[in-house]
Amino acid sequence: MTTQEPEHRPGKGWLAGLATLTDLFAYPLRTSHYVELVNPLWTTHRMHARVVAVWDETRDARTITLKPGANWRLHRPGQHVRVGIPVDGRHYTRTYTISSPPERDDGCFTITVKKIDGGRLSHHIVRHLKVGDYVPVGLPQGDFYLPDASPIQPLFITAGSGITPIMSMLRSLVLQQRLPDTVHIHYAPHEFDTIFGKALRELSAEQCHYRLHEIHTRKQAGNMAYFSREALERFCPGWRERDCYACGPPGLLAVLEETWAEAGLSQRLHIERFRADFAPIPDNAEGGLVRFTQNNIEVNADGQANLLSVAEDAGLNPAHGCRMGICHTCNTTLKSGCVRDLRSGDFINEPGAMVQICVCAAAGDCELDI
Ligand code: FES
Repeated sequence: MTTQEPEHRPGKGWLAGLATLTDLFAYPLRTSHYVELVNPLWTTHRMHARVVAVWDETRDARTITLKPGANWRLHRPGQHVRVGIPVDGRHYTRTYTISSPPERDDGCFTITVKKIDGGRLSHHIVRHLKVGDYVPVGLPQGDFYLPDASPIQPLFITAGSGITPIMSMLRSLVLQQRLPDTVHIHYAPHEFDTIFGKALRELSAEQCHYRLHEIHTRKQAGNMAYFSREALERFCPGWRERDCYACGPPGLLAVLEETWAEAGLSQRLHIERFRADFAPIPDNAEGGLVRFTQNNIEVNADGQANLLSVAEDAGLNPAHGCRMGICHTCNTTLKSGCVRDLRSGDFINEPGAMVQICVCAAAGDCELDI
């Protein structure tokens, strides 16, 4: 299913000039705040994008085409973007990889979102976001992209929705007519629910430099169904001479890290994670009473739940972005007590220390400046 709508937008120079003058009269707000009421895409104090098309890739994955407003800058293929969505009166933010190439000539970009069980935002995007809706967006971020200068022969290893950053890279390389000798191993449960399955197969048929090995894990029997050293040798005997770019679930990425480390080639493995890599939590890890001082709210938290979700469950709406310890949008001052960094297992107990609440849990009673 797909739906689309046309776009109208005034020139950027015209807006900037007028805004400088009218800001004098709009104080203490800015002209941009009033412009937002007319068209959110014309604002300059924060960025919005309008949904101009939606396309169902599979029964539970949807590509959203977004037309960004003023101040957008082109992404590098492989980068991600923060998207904010109001759901049931609360504002949520998530990070999604851009699946389109920057070479699109309509100024739009796409994100491709898979509905996850229990995921409020992914459910809303896949089922309810519609053409004409406006969503706040951040600028493209991330360092998972191919180098500009040195020609490389990539090996892509992806699984499920981990295909999205690689799809942006492939599309960009094809449009630039510089797709190098590429091997791509992709895992999906079935042929029919492979995100971009048709596009990948067409690419494989059209581009002689692109070799696709598609593995359908629910269909394939034996040890070739999942990643193994044996499968790697079979699909890509020259893997040691290639730079590997991988994106997929944590289990796959862990095995890849092990394989490349054993071969002494860790520097040739480039990984994009959708979730933070957490250290094991000891069985006796204890939580405590968490006090959000600005709001004067206290809640009990266990030693495993990240403090961002603890705050949200308490009805608060702290600033956040990636929810995996990358963007630092959720940084909060620890007023007192102790928290655990779930990635390293380290404790943070210095009053005044900065806490990334999306990747930290209570480790005893604590007070946070929220
Ligand atoms: S939300 Fe990005 S670091 Fe916490």
